[in-house]
Amino acid sequence: MAPSDDNQRIYEDTGVIDIYRTIAPPQQAERNMFEPLSDELRTGRLLDIGIGAGRTTAYLAPKVGHYVGVDYSHGLVRAAAQLYPDSDIRWCDARDMSQFEDASFDFVNFSFNGLDSLDHDGRRQVLAEVHRVLRPGGHWMFSSHNRDYVRRGMLPWQGRFKPGRVMLRKSAEALRHHRNWRHLRKEQVETPEYALVNDEAHHYSLLHYYISPTVQVAQLEAAGFTDVRVYDQWGTETAEPSPASIWMYYDSRRA
Ligand SMILES: C[S@@+](CC[C@H](N)C(=O)[O-])C[C@H]1O[C@@H](n2cnc3c(N)ncnc32)[C@H](O)[C@@H]1O
Repeated sequence: MAPSDDNQRIYEDTGVIDIYRTIAPPQQAERNMFEPLSDELRTGRLLDIGIGAGRTTAYLAPKVGHYVGVDYSHGLVRAAAQLYPDSDIRWCDARDMSQFEDASFDFVNFSFNGLDSLDHDGRRQVLAEVHRVLRPGGHWMFSSHNRDYVRRGMLPWQGRFKPGRVMLRKSAEALRHHRNWRHLRKEQVETPEYALVNDEAHHYSLLHYYISPTVQVAQLEAAGFTDVRVYDQWGTETAEPSPASIWMYYDSRRA
């Protein structure tokens, strides 16, 4: 089974679904990207991909003219539909969005590094599909793990760490789930363009795609997106490498 199929299986796990049911507020970078677009959003059509149990549905559905939320986990789609019965929530794998017409959205969003669950081929399929369903000039927003992150792929006791309660808690958690990381660390991949990294998410049970912002910008441009803006984990727009930021946010437009 390919690592990205294993990732998909994790999002059907009832324990993982329960975590996403506890709805968290919008992230600061999301506010910084979406708030200046309030006027355009009010009449716009938004496709929200990888909604989990609907964290971004709560934030974005009331802001837009037309909202569709999708996820490829059947369990999470059920959870989101229960929590937001008035929203249009559907099952869809972003690698094949043939249920949506060409140029049928003004905004496409894929929040909280959901795109990183996919391998390189899957990511390229999603970029092509997003490009197809967006109208020219439409916004494509997402976040993605940062390959420049200084602690990328390290266990809590590796590298330079801050001793203290957090470090002890994280180390205990890593030891409790050592079978997961022992197994997945063998599957990690490093290429000139990206890395597939086993990190602490969901008890070290996932391989995530990590990419440097400069490479991500080039990847977006090659896929037909332009005007790329990059934000760090705290929502500050930046053109510099950000080694403290575990993930980065991207806002781009379909050329
Ligand atoms: C880290 S979770 C974030 C969930 C939600 N956006 C949030 O912020 O709470 C990533 C989500 O992306 C979904 N996902 C990953 N790959 C997907 C794909 N190819 N198509 C649709 N959903 C996908 C997962 O099922 C999961 O719900």
